[in-house]
Amino acid sequence: MMEKSNTIILAFVGKGGVGKTSLSAAAVRLLSKAYPDKRILAIDADPAVGLATALGTDASLTVDDIRKAFVAQAKKGNTGAAVELLGEAKYRMFDAVAENGNVSFLAIGRPEGAGCYCKVNAYLKEIISMLAGNYDYVVIDGEAGIEHVNRRVMEKVTHLLLISDASRKGLQVIKTIHAVAKEMVMFEKAGVIINRIPDMSLAENLDAGATEILSLIPDDSGVAMNDATGESIYSLPESSPLMQGAKEALVKLGVIQGN
Ligand SMILES: Nc1ncnc2c1ncn2[C@@H]1O[C@H](COP(=O)(O)OP(=O)(O)O)[C@@H](O)[C@H]1O
Ligand SMILES: [Mg+2]
Repeated sequence: MMEKSNTIILAFVGKGGVGKTSLSAAAVRLLSKAYPDKRILAIDADPAVGLATALGTDASLTVDDIRKAFVAQAKKGNTGAAVELLGEAKYRMFDAVAENGNVSFLAIGRPEGAGCYCKVNAYLKEIISMLAGNYDYVVIDGEAGIEHVNRRVMEKVTHLLLISDASRKGLQVIKTIHAVAKEMVMFEKAGVIINRIPDMSLAENLDAGATEILSLIPDDSGVAMNDATGESIYSLPESSPLMQGAKEALVKLGVIQGN
């Protein structure tokens, strides 16, 4: 099942703690402001969660809950109930979407544990793709790598945002993700954002590989404060380095207009 081909799908990937969630939330905020009449879906695909808080949304049901209910029935040998649950999965998935103005939110939850429920997962992934096709923009806050997004959320991404901090490890991780993504041929454009740079004099020496650097974002104490106090991205000033850096990246990708 293919998403509607004109859905723009942005995936934020990179090592833990580099700013994927903050930047995903910033992207959602920028998109909802730039396109008040468009439909935007934010997907939290990181089992470490956090996007709901960053967006100030609350969502209780996750895709994992839907899967677990099915697996529990199947394990009890209750095939009839399990099949029925699977038939209902589509409606449950729509119920799991929290709507707030032109922004909707869906959390994937935990990855599958021991044992692969491959068919169930493939089916749920198809429903996610179908759901995504109803939106104009989809922002995925990914767990570390693109292969996770591919396995758990959807096959196709139009814009791959490789997020790193200034550490060698972070930069190495995005190079690896980019190489894996190229092999999977599943994105149209990729770009790098280097975030939380402790000293901007480092900037020119950061090696992000062959991928275009979309923006360089300094360490922004406002973001950390915001996070510590449980405030959403909407309480950060538009002029904050993180919001500015997110904007610069989306403009360079041609996803929003600069001004
Ligand atoms: N530019 C920045 N400056 C300072 N702190 C930041 C910046 N970007 C993100 N943070 C903080 O770093 C931590 C990790 O960010 P987060 O967006 O949760 O990363 P990830 O989702 O990649 O794990 C959070 O506490 C967040 O508030
Ligand atoms: Mg995160």
